Amino acid sequence: MRFEPFQLDRWIERHRGRDLIDLAGSVGAPWTVGALLDLEPQLDWRDRGVLYAPIGGSEELRRAIAAHVATDPEHVFVTTGAAEAIAILAADAAEPGRNVVLPDPGYPAFSGLPRAFGLEVRRYQVDRERGFALDPDAVARLIDARTALVFVNTPHNPSGACCDASGIDAVARAAAAAGEALVVVDQVFHPIELDRPTPPVATRPGVVALGDMSKALSLSGLRIGWIVEPDPTRRQRYRDLRAYFTLGSGEPVEALAALALRHTATLLERTRGRARTNRAALAEVLGRRADVVAWVPPAGGLVAFPWLRSGESTRDLAEGLARDGVLIAPGDTLGHPDHFRIALASVEEETFQRAVETLDCGLAHLERRASA
Ligand SMILES: Cc1ncc(COP(=O)(O)O)c(C=O)c1O
Repeated sequence: MRFEPFQLDRWIERHRGRDLIDLAGSVGAPWTVGALLDLEPQLDWRDRGVLYAPIGGSEELRRAIAAHVATDPEHVFVTTGAAEAIAILAADAAEPGRNVVLPDPGYPAFSGLPRAFGLEVRRYQVDRERGFALDPDAVARLIDARTALVFVNTPHNPSGACCDASGIDAVARAAAAAGEALVVVDQVFHPIELDRPTPPVATRPGVVALGDMSKALSLSGLRIGWIVEPDPTRRQRYRDLRAYFTLGSGEPVEALAALALRHTATLLERTRGRARTNRAALAEVLGRRADVVAWVPPAGGLVAFPWLRSGESTRDLAEGLARDGVLIAPGDTLGHPDHFRIALASVEEETFQRAVETLDCGLAHLERRASA
């Protein structure tokens, strides 16, 4: 088993600890433990246990997640971030000759994990020319009787494109017609839909949803994710796999996660507000430099994925910006060198404004060079 290097996280790790405005990740407005505890000051934490939580998550947490994504608590299987959910699904699907279908561009673990487990990777394009919209027909063309998993991601990382229920239903019909493919809808950025609200994905046999506390709720340090899986046989298999991988989460972390889920409106408000304001600030700069850069404004999620019209790599731009105090993710870390990814809500509005002014200087330099 060989894992391909996780280029995006290598880039982020390389710059960790430096005094930079960090727009390379994909989380929103950060919280402190104190601010979370202040949401319910009457709770006494000293009597809380510090043992393993049940492998699939405590009932308290599963109920809180179920209320957040409008599902049955029985169907919720807790994981160590959505990262472990993807690992469990890939391990469960691993069988010689099987394949997985996933978006390009897309979150690197969708391909890296299944490939390491020996599955063939088939990529469908989410084209910038089509606003990065999911094309269910393009997905359907790649699915066959040997397809184990079909990943759909909405809001999509890195573009922020959102897919409605009809698109997911079309993919689910194609999967059911071809054989046994499980459709996995990664909605870790839900409900950060910035233009119009979208309900959580309706899961059913053959369609599961992934979520987490890391992105929309911006509590990545809790390392809590989940799979909404209606099939009890599959849930039992996930339980066995998690018993090998991480053995579960811990009691204090699950209790803190359940607390946070009782206050989602408060948590989401700050991140959504920032994402909208900062998206407008970014639009202003990208509009000013439209000769050299283009983008599709993200309809949801916490990142944007602009590109250089020249087609050249953004690596130099990203290195230059890092020297000037701003960290973005160069597109080669996501397999698209002419793009860059920029986080919308990781820093507050004033800091973001300073960052996009630095970006503006970098783009102005490219503009001058292009017209020289
Ligand atoms: C689309 C997507 N899915 C899953 C993950 C994994 O996140 P976590 O393990 O923090 O839940 C990420 C992280 O960036 C992501 O962007």
